[in-house]
Amino acid sequence: MADKDGNALAKEYGLDTPKQSQSFHVKGMDHVDWGMKDRLSRIFRPSSGNTVMLAFDHGYIMGATAGLERLDLSIEPLAPYADALMATRGAMRTCISPHHNKPVILRASAGSTVLKDDMSHEVIGVDIEDAIRINASCLAIQVFVGANGECSSLNNLVRTIDAGERVGIPTLGVTAVGKEMERTTRYFMLATRVVAELGAHIVKTYYCDDFEKVVAACPVPIVVAGGKKVGELEALTMAYRAIDSGAAGVDMGRNVFQSDCPIGMLKAINGVVHEKLTPEQGYDLYLTEQSQMA
Ligand code: 5RP
Repeated sequence: MADKDGNALAKEYGLDTPKQSQSFHVKGMDHVDWGMKDRLSRIFRPSSGNTVMLAFDHGYIMGATAGLERLDLSIEPLAPYADALMATRGAMRTCISPHHNKPVILRASAGSTVLKDDMSHEVIGVDIEDAIRINASCLAIQVFVGANGECSSLNNLVRTIDAGERVGIPTLGVTAVGKEMERTTRYFMLATRVVAELGAHIVKTYYCDDFEKVVAACPVPIVVAGGKKVGELEALTMAYRAIDSGAAGVDMGRNVFQSDCPIGMLKAINGVVHEKLTPEQGYDLYLTEQSQMA
């Protein structure tokens, strides 16, 4: 409100105190714009610095996947228990209600399916205007480091980062392993660093030996994929080790929606990722939820 008379004189400029450096809770993101920080804060909880992303974008390469036959039935009830939802625009618009108000990690690469031997040739599958229209908090692009489609997939990544930077939407680079590619520490260390150096704001990768070295060499947050369905305690142990090694969360799909108690599994993962529960404590939580199922 304009106040000409009686306005307290502004004088506390703290001119003799150097400007403090920021300490934004998302790794490497001190110097991004306010809008991007706002979106990152929707994804990564400021209280823990971590995130539990629920990934259900599998249909874009695999068609109807076990547990995802009816997204409206399987994913809708899970949405409240995830920090962010990773999906295609087709899945979001047709099957997920916007009332959950969850940040969307929008799958923005497309162009290949499991029917192809070489799945490394993708394109950018979403215009930035449509990503804005769906209120995406992040764009997800798969990269195939070391594969035939390496160059084109890295091109998809940088084009998307550029488009996102213009409007303040961060990009998540997914280090794909395809059907045949290696899953060594050396590979993930290289692939994650490449993705970060090209400007991705978040990197999704797989847990591996010496994971703390992969995390240390990556200047932006790493989230780990779950991979194929394993036992609940095993999946929670992987999540625990990843967080303990410095990962900033998980981006899990099959180990949640293929569990016989997906809500229990999400609660247990939240405990491990945000509250430092041990895998055993998380598993107890899962078993309690499972026993309470009708
Ligand atoms: C595919 C993906 C999936 O979202 C990812 O694989 C996560 O799902 P899951 O935990 O089932 O592996 O990025 O490229």
